[in-house]
This record gives sequence, C-alpha cells and structure tokens, in this order.
Amino acid sequence: MEAFPPLNPRAPFIWYGGDYYPEQWPRALWDEDLRLMQACRFRVATVGVFSWTALQPAEERFTFGWLDQVLDKLAAAGCKVCLATPSAAQPAWLSQRYPEVLRADATGRRRHHGWRVNYCPTSPLYRRLASELAARLAERYHAHPALIAWHVSNEYLPACYCEQCAAAFRDWLRLRYGSLDELNRRWWTRFWSHTFTDWSQIEPPYANGEGSIHALTLDYRRFQNEMLLECFKLEREAIRRFSGDVPITTNLMRFYRDLDYRLWAREMDVVAWDCYPSVEDEPLDIALAHDLMRGLRDGQPFLLMEQSPSSQNWQPYNTLKRPGELRLQSFQALAHGAESVMFFQWRRSRGGIEKLHGAVIEHGGRSDTRVFSEVQALGAELERLGARTLGGVTPAQVGLLFDWENWWALEDCSGPTREKRYLETLRSHYAPFWRRNVPVDVVFWDSPLERYRLLVAPLLYLLKEGLAERLAAFVQEGGRLLLTYLSGMVDECDLVFEDGPPGPLRHLLGIWQEEIDALPPGRTNRLVLNDGRSFVCGHLCALIHCEGAEVLGRYGEDFYAGRPALTRHRVGQGQAFYLACEPEPAFLELFYGELLEELGIAPVLATPPGVEATLRQTARERLLFVLNHGRAPATVSLPPGRTFEELLSGRQVQERLTLAGLGVALLAEPLETTGEGPAA
Ligand code: GLA
Ligand code: ZN
Repeated sequence: MEAFPPLNPRAPFIWYGGDYYPEQWPRALWDEDLRLMQACRFRVATVGVFSWTALQPAEERFTFGWLDQVLDKLAAAGCKVCLATPSAAQPAWLSQRYPEVLRADATGRRRHHGWRVNYCPTSPLYRRLASELAARLAERYHAHPALIAWHVSNEYLPACYCEQCAAAFRDWLRLRYGSLDELNRRWWTRFWSHTFTDWSQIEPPYANGEGSIHALTLDYRRFQNEMLLECFKLEREAIRRFSGDVPITTNLMRFYRDLDYRLWAREMDVVAWDCYPSVEDEPLDIALAHDLMRGLRDGQPFLLMEQSPSSQNWQPYNTLKRPGELRLQSFQALAHGAESVMFFQWRRSRGGIEKLHGAVIEHGGRSDTRVFSEVQALGAELERLGARTLGGVTPAQVGLLFDWENWWALEDCSGPTREKRYLETLRSHYAPFWRRNVPVDVVFWDSPLERYRLLVAPLLYLLKEGLAERLAAFVQEGGRLLLTYLSGMVDECDLVFEDGPPGPLRHLLGIWQEEIDALPPGRTNRLVLNDGRSFVCGHLCALIHCEGAEVLGRYGEDFYAGRPALTRHRVGQGQAFYLACEPEPAFLELFYGELLEELGIAPVLATPPGVEATLRQTARERLLFVLNHGRAPATVSLPPGRTFEELLSGRQVQERLTLAGLGVALLAEPLETTGEGPAA
C-alpha cells in the first residue's frame, strides 16, 4: 500500500481546528476568538461555509473585505485556513430573483426559500452563480499564506424533482440507453403495460407517481448523484483555474445512503467527513465509518472535518460527551486513518437552528469551561505528536465489500422481505474482526483486491458488470471469499440474471439457488455444521443446490432441513464460501475466528474486551493505537521482549500497559525491530 503524500507541505501537522463563522459576530470579538484559538492550539479554521450573502449581498455586489481581514488575522495568529465556498445555502435574493433555482420536493412541487441545500442541482443558473463565486474566491485568495485547503459547499444532499431535473433526466437516459427500445428492454417495461412510446413520457419517480419500475428509480438515484457531483466538479474546476496546488475536498456523511461516495472520492483530492455519532452508536460503528472513509480512496488517510466538541442538537437525545470522550473519539479517528481533528463549531450562535449545538466556546463566551479545557488539552497533545502519525497506512488483509448502488437496489426491491438489513449485515460481518483488532478495509467493486487474503461481500444483490470476474480472479489467486444469500440476483438495471441467482457467481460458488424463504421476526431455523455445532439462523434462508461446492453446514429444521446452508467451493488456489442464511452472531465469531487462524492473520494486539487496538504504519515506524472504550481502567499485555515508546506520555513501555477508563495510548516501534520494511 502506498504511503499517502503529505496533504499539503504547508501544513505538515495534524490539522486541529474547526468551523469558524465570524460574520455572525461584531469585529470586536474576532481578536478574542483568535486569542482563544491560540490558547487551544487551533491550527486550521474552516471559514466561509455559509457566507454567500455576506460575500455577495446582491448579484452585482461583492463584499470580500471582511473575509480579507479574517484571513489576515488568522494568518497573523499562525492559523491556517480551509476556505469553503458558500454554495450550500443560496441567498434569499437569489431564490427570489431566480425561483427556478429552488428545489422541488418528491411530488414535483417547488419548495419555498429557506433551510440549506435547497437548490436544484441541474439548474444552470445555480451552477453558474455558485461556480462564479468559487472562481472569485480562488482568484482572490489562492496565494494567501493561510490557505491550505478548499472546502467546496457543504454536505451535499439529493434529490430534486423539478421540471429541469425531469428534462435533464431524459437527456441522461438517452445517452445511457441510446434508444427507447433499449430502455424499455432493460427496464422490463412490458410488465403492467409500462412501455414508453416517447421519451417525454418518462418522469422522475415522484412520490405520487411511478414507483413500480425499479430500474427507473435506480437510474434516478444515479442521475441525481451525478448532478450533485457535477456541481462539485464545476466549483472545483473554477477553483483550479486559479489555485492549482491546494487540495480540494468536501465533507461527506458516513454511510449516507443517497450519494455514491465512491464516485465522489475519485473527484476529491482528499476524503473528508463529519462524524456525529448517535446515542445508539457503539465504538465499533464509529470504527466502521472511519474505515469506510479510508476505503473511499483505497486506503489513503482522510480528514475528520467535523465533530462536536460536546453535544449535537439534531439527534433525538443530544447527550454530552463525557469527560475524556472527546479525546478518545479524536484518537479513534486518528487510529483509523485521520490526519485531522476538526470541530463544528468554534462559537455557538445566539440564534438560528443550531444555537444549541455544541461548540468550543459556549454562549457565555468563556474559556473556563470543561469543554474548552478538554479541547485545549487535546490541542496540546496533538501539537506534541507533530507529524509523527501523518501518512500512516493501515495494513489490512481483510476487505469488506460495500456498494451504494447495491444498497439502493436492495432497499427499493419489493421482496423477499421489507427489511434488507444491508448496513446491519455489514456491521455484523465487521464485528468479529473489530473485536479481535484485525484491521479491515472497506472496499468497493473497483478497488484493487490483490492486497487482501480474505474478502467478505454480504448481500451482493446487484452485480456490477465485471465484478463476478474480478471476484473469481481473486479466489483463483488464493483469496478466500464469503458471499451470502441474496447475492448475484440482478444486473445494473435490476433485471434478474437469465439463469437465476447467483447469476454470474454461479461457477465461482459452485451452487445455484432455487428459492428463498423470508422468516418473520420470531421464526428461526438452524444452521448445523458438519461437526454437529449448531446455530440459530433466520431472516432469509436461501434454498440452494450444490454443483461443485462442498457442504459445510445444513439447515436443521422445516421442510428444507438437510439442505445446504453453508458451502465451500475450492477454485484455483482459493476458496469461495456461500452462507445461505443470516446466522446468530456467535456463528460469525467462530467462522471468521477459524478462518483467520487458518490464514495466519493475527490481531495487531490482543486486548481485553472494550479495548480497541489499531495499527498505522508510516515509512519509519509502526504506530499502535490502544483505546479503552470502557469506563474502568484496563490492562493490556504487550508482546514479550519488545519495547515501545508511548508517544502521549513520552515513556518507554514493556510487557504491560495500563489505561485509565476512556484512556488512550499510542505505542511507537521502529520498523527495524519488527523486521518489516517500510510501508511505501
Ligand atoms: C453538519 C454540517 C454543519 C452543522 C453540523 C451540525 O455536519 O456540516 O454545518 O450543521 O452538521 O451537527
Ligand atoms: Zn431540479
């Protein structure tokens, strides 16, 4: 795996800082802001995210003066700037003058002005005005000494259902299918007499319109994703005209269903995301989200662009981060590949919808607060780390395949059950590795696969062209692959494969599927392994036949008792497993545990439950992050005979490491002592 090139030679440190919206405040406060930012070692401020009206109060009038001052002040205070374009919320004058920029809801009704991300992404006017402003910003600030990154817009959201979008969708379809006949064929429109006889008859999948052609719905999702991505690209190109050497990014949102971030990541210079866990999220969920972000650019480090220093305001319950939790979560981000720890937001606004959202500076404007002192202490710690963790990569040998289009198609599909549980299933296959501290990369249909020894691809319902061949080559070369029920059902137009499931995966898996049973909650079956060990299973149970695969486990109950429920097909140097049902978690623990042992894939560190360990490898050293998610102290035994430098305390440690509740350690070990070469 390649070491990540430094994000920006001008900022070779962990970016620490956050969203700063000074335009809300009297100038008298700006110097106080800077004084406090320096006190908590802020090194990067994200500025301009929602500043459209402040920068362009009327179409012909620009007011950059205040931003000039803010940037100069930040530079003088030694703080760098991640400069945002303000296109996520258009000004009221713009919506009033050009109502066609407003988004339409799922019934096609135009929305009124307000909120944010309330623009139509296909609107030529919106696109022009947004990219013109981006160009002006780039022209004015490209050489500013504080500038280290561009942040285009903010948290893109689909979808618009306006007339402009409908027309652009038809053009998009024409390009994609060439002819109406081809579209009708691929969409299977003879069913229910849905054949289109003229392009003009095709409409977006309105909430009160066509919802029965899955391929149409799927294409509309693709189309909207592409329209928003085009908006990003237009602004990016506008910026690049003046500012070619500064990385350009935008902030993503975890497993956000409606945008295919794999496609976005290709267009971004660095992946950045906003981490807002809910009360239900466990450390494992956040770990998986970070791994997703690292996977988006095939293992490259990413930016943690936003997290709350304390509470949020938009969750059902906006719990405070407990003392120590902010530090722990920040180090967890670094542990999984982040190069930054950034906050939303610097100072709480007095009004507006986010006035109760956590901030480094609370309403009283004081610095003698719990949150401020935690932010300050963390700043000092990160400053001491300097550049030490930068560029570190995660040497994972296990890949977990995820695909947005698959998610869309799976969720939209009517049957065999309403609950498809895509993310839940991914999570349950991720858990056994996370609990063992075995690094996992989230990978995609087009990721390089050679570096993995085990690939897990749950619920691969929609198979993109060429993927079956890539998976077959992976196994042929010695890889272990696990696929599950609902795999290989449909092609990219949601057409069931001609010879039935698992379609092009049939030869690789050595099985074919006859039927699939959906069990309601409370009804279960059993997965009985050949050696007699037995596990509860259910949800979906595929009824399959072997044609080359060997049976490792069978159903224990019902009319299909005795039929294969877990199979293995040896192909070339490797093995392809098929899991026909959803088993209880204990089975996955056991199955993956045995497989890892067989493959000789060891944890990066053995830890007691609740203590997570990850590994990042830089060109010089191995960095073990040890994170105690429990509230009680924990002791970890270290590999015998090895000495680590604990970077947060500066102490040498051997044999045993004791962590306080919510405690963190960062153990460094030069590469020579482990006998491993550099990562690059
Ligand atoms: C997002 C946005 C911010 C803010 C926060 C609140 O991440 O990017 O502007 O709204 O959420 O949590
Ligand atoms: Zn639109």
